[in-house]
Amino acid sequence: MKKVAVLTGGGDSSGINALIRSIVVNATKHNLEILGIKEGWRGLLEENFQELNMENTEGINRRAGTILKTSRTNPLKEEGQVEHISEVIKKHNIDALIAIGGDDTLGVAGYLHTQGLPVVGIPQTIDNDIYGTEYCVGFNTAVNQVLTAIEAMRESNISHQKGMIVEVMGRESGWIAMYAGLIAEADYVMIPEHPLNFDHLIDSLKAKKAQGKEACLVIVSEGIEIDGVDRGEAVDAFGNKALAGISYAVAEILKQKTGWDKRIQVLGHYQRGGQPTAYELRNSIEMGQYAVQLLVEGNLGNMVARIDDQLTTVPLSEIRGKKGSISKKFEAMAKQQGIFGI
Ligand code: F6P
Repeated sequence: MKKVAVLTGGGDSSGINALIRSIVVNATKHNLEILGIKEGWRGLLEENFQELNMENTEGINRRAGTILKTSRTNPLKEEGQVEHISEVIKKHNIDALIAIGGDDTLGVAGYLHTQGLPVVGIPQTIDNDIYGTEYCVGFNTAVNQVLTAIEAMRESNISHQKGMIVEVMGRESGWIAMYAGLIAEADYVMIPEHPLNFDHLIDSLKAKKAQGKEACLVIVSEGIEIDGVDRGEAVDAFGNKALAGISYAVAEILKQKTGWDKRIQVLGHYQRGGQPTAYELRNSIEMGQYAVQLLVEGNLGNMVARIDDQLTTVPLSEIRGKKGSISKKFEAMAKQQGIFGI
């Protein structure tokens, strides 16, 4: 093994740059050359590269985003692109490729591996929904961002005695909503994994009001589905719809049923920024080390995974087409705190 390439695909998050730095630090120790691929799979198709070394990655650890840039280009969509990628990998003498991203990016990596390409995957998405791992790079920082935003607004809500609906990202995964809801002591959390019950939501908020709560906090995960609310036809290259905005429908239903006028905050891409947390950095450093170790051992075709706080591997072939879900253990703990409308 002489030359390793690294790419970041899909939605960015805070924690990727620390991962890149860790890969560079560890690959350098093994005298490996490291080639950064710009803009995800598009950069591989277009041969858009940037050499990565100890000098040009110094100090990137705590920067949000990805210095390699990213895209949602899907090379499995267009005929001939997988073959083209194979040729580019051969042409540039790339011995192995580390793909950093969510289920879309890692799905492509898994397919490329079935075609004989040497890949290793690292799970990265604020949604924390990749099958086979309990942690995905970016999740902890995204939750922290949500908590920071909530605290910045809480006193204003109390001052005006106004309840607030905070919408968070996560696609079909309620991880961000649930985790932030637990810590922020939300009064109700609505997640895609559980059926919606507006009457229960209203009764719960009325009960909180009766107990003297001045400004209730409802956290809504963007992926909840409400009858009659259409998300439009537009999809990205992987078939994902844009989901932001469902909290307006929640507010409207509450208004119709009770006359309440809630504040609405859609946190959006704020959740993908911010300085990575200490846990985030520790995880990125460790996952980067582990990925390089896998390469050096010739252990390809796997994704780095965190299970019971230990790093291990899961075959990329096992994660394609599947989604990770909120652990029962976490859900039970959250329920015990009494904040969930489930
Ligand atoms: O998958 C990460 C994510 O941030 C989702 O939570 C969100 O729905 C989506 O990406 C937003 O995508 P984009 O940045 O393309 O609008």
